[in-house]
Amino acid sequence: MAIRIDPWSSATYGDYSKLREEFGIQEFTEEMWKDLPNTHRLLRRGVIFGHRDFHRIKRCIKSGKKWAILTGLMPSGKMHLGHKMVIDEVIFYQSMGADIFIGIADIEAFATRGISLKEAERIALEEYVPNYIALGLKPKNCQIYFQSKRKEVKDLAYLLGKKVNWSQLSATYGFSGSTNMAHVFAPLLQAGDILHVQLDKYGGVRPTLVPVGIDQDPHLRLCRDIVQAHRLFSVGLTRDGRKGIFVKVDENVEKLLGIAEDVAGSIGLEKMEKIEKYKALYLVDASEEDMERIDEELVRIESELGNLSFITPSSTYHMFMTGLNGQKMSSSVPESAIFLTDPIEEARKKVMKAKTGGRVTLEEQRKYGGNPEECVVYQLFLYHLIESDKELENIYISCKNGDLICGDCKKRAAEAIENLLMDLKEKRESAKESIRDFMS
Ligand code: TRP
Ligand code: SF4
Repeated sequence: MAIRIDPWSSATYGDYSKLREEFGIQEFTEEMWKDLPNTHRLLRRGVIFGHRDFHRIKRCIKSGKKWAILTGLMPSGKMHLGHKMVIDEVIFYQSMGADIFIGIADIEAFATRGISLKEAERIALEEYVPNYIALGLKPKNCQIYFQSKRKEVKDLAYLLGKKVNWSQLSATYGFSGSTNMAHVFAPLLQAGDILHVQLDKYGGVRPTLVPVGIDQDPHLRLCRDIVQAHRLFSVGLTRDGRKGIFVKVDENVEKLLGIAEDVAGSIGLEKMEKIEKYKALYLVDASEEDMERIDEELVRIESELGNLSFITPSSTYHMFMTGLNGQKMSSSVPESAIFLTDPIEEARKKVMKAKTGGRVTLEEQRKYGGNPEECVVYQLFLYHLIESDKELENIYISCKNGDLICGDCKKRAAEAIENLLMDLKEKRESAKESIRDFMS
């Protein structure tokens, strides 16, 4: 049976390779991060397991070209370790030179969770933003904004809706005749979030990476389809494998092919064949990188012509954390999650009670070893608590061979959590004063 991802449910998605296959998500292999100037544990350790068009971002990083990050959050409760992951990624990318945009999805929270805009604002400003700052987000080239307060996001959502119809939305999300219209509109608003950063006012056309959990992929697929639907050109392969630039509209074909020719020429391509009746300019010797550059340049030109054209956004997907009780980590089940504002004693207790991959008796543990793959405590180390890969590996090995016992291991995790939470608590205090610097 086909899998459907519902971004508003609390389902868990265990089989990540199956998800990749089903939805055409690329595997986030070592090749993606290996030669970046710097890496991050979530990238290196496979927690980020999939991507769409991350190459584009990688090229920007390596060539020093401008690019942007856009992600969003739903202000609906307390921030826990699962929410921390995206921000860890964002902070890493900020250090790699990205322009950062973080949308507070107050309208989405209103539409899908019944939270008032006022309450959403309070939650965002008291809970999320101070934690982001405490975690290390810097104000330089960084904007945190509310969906409800950014006109361009709402305008785009409305305009982009021109190329989406009801069958598409209901098939993607399982909407029915009784779904409220604000909810129906939420995916378009999210497309507005993602694409508005390419408007002139926000830095212009440029590659944009959207780091999210896999539950958000339907929104990315929709957004990418919308982008394609608005383009005047498509740059890519024909069905029989010929490379080229193809005009998608029926007006001004000759003029548009001329533009295509100029752009291809400007990056040094010479072998071209123009066939007007196919609305095509075939490119014989273009590399993949050439094709990408041509595509981006054409987006700029389309946009100058007054078209709603954007570079197709890239995305990465991270795995979800398992809850401390072995179920899904969820704000509504306090014992399943460690909240960044948990009192130290409480956080310690949660860790000490966490579900491990250990054996029933100490004797068996010594004899057969534990199972870190199925251990929530190990996951805490892997995702959050241990920076050094070597140290992590030592834990893995000594768990596997029975040297490490769960009691000691949990104590170590509890201590690390304590340090993390104490540090954040201290930093949140001073963060309050700088919130203003992030909000435009
Ligand atoms: N829908 C996201 C969530 O449920 C929040 C969100 C809104 C978002 N706009 C976005 C995420 C843009 C990524 C990009 O958490
Ligand atoms: Fe998990 Fe540590 Fe026990 Fe191994 S020893 S199963 S990593 S708690």
